[in-house]
Amino acid sequence: MALVEGRCERLDAWPFAALAPRDRALARELAWGAIAHQRLYDWLIDRCLPRPETVPVLARQALRIVAHQLFALDRIPVHAALSSTVAAMRNAEARGLCGIVNAVGRRLAQLRQPRHGDGPLGRLACTDWPADLAIRYSLPELLLRDLETWHGPLPEDRLAALAYRPPLCTRTRPGHPSPVGRSVLRREGPWTWWGEPEEALQGPVSEGRCVVQDRCQGRIVDAVLRVAKARPGALVLDLCAAPGGKALALQDAGLRVVAADLSWARLQRVPSDIPRAVCDGRQAAFAAAFDVVLVDAPCTNSGVFGRRPEARLRYTGAQRDALVALQRALLASAAACVAADGCLIYATCSVSPCENQGVAHTLAGWRVLGECLTWPDRWQGGGYWAVLVRC
Ligand SMILES: C[S@@+](CC[C@H](N)C(=O)[O-])C[C@H]1O[C@@H](n2cnc3c(N)ncnc32)[C@H](O)[C@@H]1O
Repeated sequence: MALVEGRCERLDAWPFAALAPRDRALARELAWGAIAHQRLYDWLIDRCLPRPETVPVLARQALRIVAHQLFALDRIPVHAALSSTVAAMRNAEARGLCGIVNAVGRRLAQLRQPRHGDGPLGRLACTDWPADLAIRYSLPELLLRDLETWHGPLPEDRLAALAYRPPLCTRTRPGHPSPVGRSVLRREGPWTWWGEPEEALQGPVSEGRCVVQDRCQGRIVDAVLRVAKARPGALVLDLCAAPGGKALALQDAGLRVVAADLSWARLQRVPSDIPRAVCDGRQAAFAAAFDVVLVDAPCTNSGVFGRRPEARLRYTGAQRDALVALQRALLASAAACVAADGCLIYATCSVSPCENQGVAHTLAGWRVLGECLTWPDRWQGGGYWAVLVRC
């Protein structure tokens, strides 16, 4: 298994496909858990070490994986969690670290309790929980501060929900019946949730009857239709369109969509029957002719930490502020492309108020007609949209 320190590349870019199918799900789970609960696991590991600062990086990474097996995965016996990780160290030619991993792993195992709640905290005595909520829920301190500044202290179940991983969700395309399958967990309108992603991907998705789309992302299309009141045939500019999930949903809703994006490579994934343009949205050179302009902005992904665990490692002041500056520039440029009586839609998959209300509410000459923050839950990621009209 790949052990990566301090690098924040997307987890889904890791070479899991090289593994035998039966190992793949476990490898993904261990990589996910070691990143998603990193701050909590590091805090526990540090408690088991006399001098935490001296533990080698590779040993710490291995211990995060031990911790995830001990506290989050109930089917792996303690001895198997320890012996398999120590064996992996040996195979990785890190034989010299086997002793420390084994010794600290045994101390961690003494903290393991019968399960009394969800996730790793549900296997720890409450007296062993860190007092600091950012560590308890492995969140960036800055995100907690940003959330508290806007919403006040948040209940712990809301913080825990930031790590939820909703099952794969598909949207059934118009003209097709709801898909059936042995692993279907739930249906709601065009939305279907799947217990086994492969069943959806190899069946209705590959046949073009469904597309993979988070339910929360579908809410933006509802905003375009219900709040912006776009009629069939309305002209929509999707300024950050790639890979095209929302552009296709808008087209499926009967709107005429132009898809623009900075990335030529990502734009290739937008369905080819949608007109496409490579452009820097900060200098969008389109006439003010669009009934709706959508800015589905690049963001910190703090509403989808469950699916993108590595995104929490990137939520720093510098990254957040650079993104806010980009989001403001994109929105200002998009505003110039809206027809006289048209609407501007701003959306992110972040729950951070700095990137959401902080951007949408401050565009000069425009006011917010409607907005919605979706908090992540068991079935969908989190995100925000706002519909703006000229003052
Ligand atoms: C959140 S994603 C968009 C997802 C897309 N709307 C969908 O539903 O599939 C943000 C997109 O913004 C694009 N982007 C980043 N900077 C940009 C810029 N300056 N101008 C235009 N697009 C940009 C990225 O390439 C990325 O594809």
